[in-house]
Amino acid sequence: MITVTKSGKAKWASLKSPNKEGSHNQEAIMNSSHFKELAQIGIALSREKDINKLFEIIVDEARSLTGADGGTLYLIDKRKMQLRFEILHNDTMKMRMGGTTGVEITLPPVPLFNTGQPNYANVSSYVALTGTIVNVPDLYEAEGFDFTGASMYDDRTGYRSQSMLVIPMKSHEDDVIGVLQLLNARDPKSNKVISFDPQSVDSIASLASQAAVALTNRQLFEELVEAKRRTERAFLDTVQRLAIVAAYKDKETALHVKRMSRYSAILAGGLCLSPAQADIVLHGSQMHDVGKIGIPDAILLKPAKLDAREWDIMKQHTTIGGHMLSGSPSELMQAGRTIALSHHERWDGSGYPKGLEKEDIPLLGRICAVADVFDAVTTRRPYREAYSTQEAYKFLREGRGKQFDPRVVDVFFARLDEIVAIQKPSIHNSLIHTSAWEVA
Ligand SMILES: [Fe+2]
Ligand SMILES: [Fe+2]
Repeated sequence: MITVTKSGKAKWASLKSPNKEGSHNQEAIMNSSHFKELAQIGIALSREKDINKLFEIIVDEARSLTGADGGTLYLIDKRKMQLRFEILHNDTMKMRMGGTTGVEITLPPVPLFNTGQPNYANVSSYVALTGTIVNVPDLYEAEGFDFTGASMYDDRTGYRSQSMLVIPMKSHEDDVIGVLQLLNARDPKSNKVISFDPQSVDSIASLASQAAVALTNRQLFEELVEAKRRTERAFLDTVQRLAIVAAYKDKETALHVKRMSRYSAILAGGLCLSPAQADIVLHGSQMHDVGKIGIPDAILLKPAKLDAREWDIMKQHTTIGGHMLSGSPSELMQAGRTIALSHHERWDGSGYPKGLEKEDIPLLGRICAVADVFDAVTTRRPYREAYSTQEAYKFLREGRGKQFDPRVVDVFFARLDEIVAIQKPSIHNSLIHTSAWEVA
């Protein structure tokens, strides 16, 4: 620790960082009346999920431990090599900026280097660069650091900056990630500004290192969440493209897949599946016809009616899809497999590939059957005209309890507004840019 003395010379009391002072410090902390308080703060810090609140807790607690009038928290911006203000508190000036306040700190960041040279003139950048603690009893009598910023602030506002304690915030790996700067310690009885008690420095150093660990953990956690989000997006993108490959071959449109999957998600929601399950239906249903990749073009693309043998082969797209999607640990792929296998089963047992009946058909398959057929019949195909919407409704009503699960049909009509909103041709902003090959 460096104590900048009133004699005017910086007295280099010790260059050891607080973390390396070892058992002496530990002992001091253990004996300190602040120990219990510190332990509680540590728990609060590790629990806080909002990084802005974390900043505030750190400054508030450090100020309450030392009676400091003001507190500033800087984080190191490693890319720009500067200290960025995150929190600025001052009781006397009734100032609370940054963190959760929404009040932006407009003060410029502190550079860590000036024209390639380490910026040792500024106390906060000195602490960031060296990892040492600086304790200044009186800014106006101290030498060794440039406090003109503080004195200019004092001139402008009438405030009197006096004592200052500046502490590095070190991560698990002993990296300085930020700086905590406390201003004007006050005597609890007289409320007069006093020097920071060297005894309390250990407590603050301990708080700063706990804070740094909590901050680093939070940052790592957020990076992890973001990485997970990116992976999930990439996975869903792959799923969509897989679906589109099959649709492309079948001359169905990407829009069919998109609309049909959205109808399926609406029906899932209406059947009281959780939002997470409805989301799985949304993405899983896009793979309902992936098995068509395995059907010979001569059959898949035949412009005329299929004969019995060809029809049998065509039906195999369900089991081919089931094989393609089997064995995956992903819940989404498993749902896709279930849908691929069961979307042509019929409530009355006349469907394929297994001829399952009623609730023996997986719910996902029963949902997708209604969504798939509704979209297929309302879309024009080269070999037939599209049904009008009214004709399609009639088709579903007539199939209720025969081709379709009556409950699913009921939900379809209960949620008709949402269905119609998706059906409208305004949905051209396809998730994937497929317009180049969207065929009718
Ligand atoms: Fe199909
Ligand atoms: Fe389909």
